[in-house]
Amino acid sequence: MSASPTPTITPTLTPVLTSVLTPVFTPVLIPGPSVDVAQLRAELARLQAELADARQHLAASERLAELGTLTGGLAHEIKNPLSTVQLNLQLLGEDIHLDWPSANRVVSRLKTVQRETARLREILDDFLRYAGKLELDLQAVDLQPLIEDLVDFFHPQAELAGVKIRVRPAAGYVSVRADPRLIKQTVLNLMLNALQAMPDGGDLILSASAEGPWGLLHVTDTGSGISTDRQAKVFDAYYSTKKGGTGLGLAMSRRIIREHGGEIHLASEEGKGTDFILRLPLVK
Ligand SMILES: Nc1ncnc2c1ncn2[C@@H]1O[C@H](COP(=O)(O)OP(=O)(O)O)[C@@H](O)[C@H]1O
Ligand SMILES: [Mg+2]
Repeated sequence: MSASPTPTITPTLTPVLTSVLTPVFTPVLIPGPSVDVAQLRAELARLQAELADARQHLAASERLAELGTLTGGLAHEIKNPLSTVQLNLQLLGEDIHLDWPSANRVVSRLKTVQRETARLREILDDFLRYAGKLELDLQAVDLQPLIEDLVDFFHPQAELAGVKIRVRPAAGYVSVRADPRLIKQTVLNLMLNALQAMPDGGDLILSASAEGPWGLLHVTDTGSGISTDRQAKVFDAYYSTKKGGTGLGLAMSRRIIREHGGEIHLASEEGKGTDFILRLPLVK
């Protein structure tokens, strides 16, 4: 008699599918004379652990999605009364007569409240952009001309900051499957961070290359660098070491690149500089 085949269930099976399949597979697990019971038990235990793990992941991502909807709604709800507050502050400002004895003090306090409400509004807008849905308009995008476009646009700003931009020419076409608008936004954001990391000037180097199934885009600077412990945090939402920084730039960049099926990495040395690497799927 031949041995019963060992049931194999792929780890990617959803809990629902697995719960449907389990009764079907269970009879196969009844030990026959030539079945290695210990091996089957171990396999079963492994599958059960995988299933429990998948269930936990699913529950966690459902909670996260719910939380996202909830906080998005909350941000919208706050924006409405905030608009009313801003409008009324403006009207109040128009009512102030400059010949009032305390007019200067009132104007200065009003300006403070206006500045803070504007900041609140910015925080809410940034959050809504970050938490909102991303619609990708995927196309074949050649990375070299994209880099050159961005450099043309960014050049005056870099020059003012004493930063020299250099573009390393690609060996050939590096055509990736991407949303050009979102990739431009991401690279521009990395260029801006690079500039801010070089307050005394330096070099900003951009390059595109192909490696296996990936197109790579490097944004390299000769700035302050990022210590190892900070490297673990820079992609976290709201992590910023800058006065007035939103801390959403790299979090958003990572979200955009991952949504493309790619990844973003960094290599950095304190005092020497930082290299951000975007990895995007090449067009086949
Ligand atoms: N090129 C860089 N060189 C050094 N530090 C950087 C660089 N890019 C990002 N960082 C660090 O990562 C933090 C998070 O960046 P980001 O998410 O863009 O937010 P923000 O620019 O608003 O601070 C920055 O505050 C800075 O400390
Ligand atoms: Mg930034």
